[in-house]
Amino acid sequence: MRIGVISDLHIDRSDIDKNEMEQLLTHEIKAQELDLLLIAGDVSSHYKMTSAFLKALSDLAQIKVLFVPGNHDYWLKEEDTLTTPEVYELYKNMPGSVLEAPYIINDDWAIVGHSGWYDYTYADARFSEEKLTRGKFYGGTWQDKLNIDWQLHDRELSKIFAEKVKGDLEKVKDKNIILMTHVVTHRRYAVPMPHRLFDYFNAFIGTSDFDGLYEKYPIRYSIMGHVHFRHQFRQNDVTYICACLGYQREWQTDDIHAEIRDTLQVIEI
Ligand SMILES: [Fe+2]
Repeated sequence: MRIGVISDLHIDRSDIDKNEMEQLLTHEIKAQELDLLLIAGDVSSHYKMTSAFLKALSDLAQIKVLFVPGNHDYWLKEEDTLTTPEVYELYKNMPGSVLEAPYIINDDWAIVGHSGWYDYTYADARFSEEKLTRGKFYGGTWQDKLNIDWQLHDRELSKIFAEKVKGDLEKVKDKNIILMTHVVTHRRYAVPMPHRLFDYFNAFIGTSDFDGLYEKYPIRYSIMGHVHFRHQFRQNDVTYICACLGYQREWQTDDIHAEIRDTLQVIEI
């Protein structure tokens, strides 16, 4: 079985037409003979666009597309009437979402997924709790602070989401597990420090609340997004994969097809 992995498509942050993006991804799905596609969040910065894209893609590609929402997928506009927890509920009930819903592939393998949330522990220790909670540094503001309102502290939210993942892992612990999150759960994907900005902004990159889960459960692959890296490594029998397409300005070429080909990773089980 061939499982494709990709993340951070940010379809509203490039001048590539959405239909073209669907068609190019479908082309790559067929070329790679994929049976299943996993998208680790940040399809777009609005739930309506994200859900329309995911539906169109699975209709066109004719394979199962599983996803977790990224932080951007939770963003709301001023005129929206939904709250962030309501958007979460909406994603939870969307076809293909693995939020609080492990996906059993076969007798041997299962997928567990969640957005996860950042808990500030990747930031340099010199920043106070208050400074981190404000999300402002060097004149820049972490945009989730303006576009998302969980009505909870980020640290609390990270713990709640990690607990949900633990409950799902418990349900499928007799199988090999592919874990998919949006935020980073391994420090190797944080921006190397010291760094003028990311000594601070690493606070919003990842979480330490998953650390114990890798020791306790048979996680074989851990997929994540958020940092716009394309990199994988292996540690203690876990293969970590970050396969982010990222913003157009971050691409190495002007050729979207080549970028998708370069980004998409394949797991064979
Ligand atoms: Fe992203």
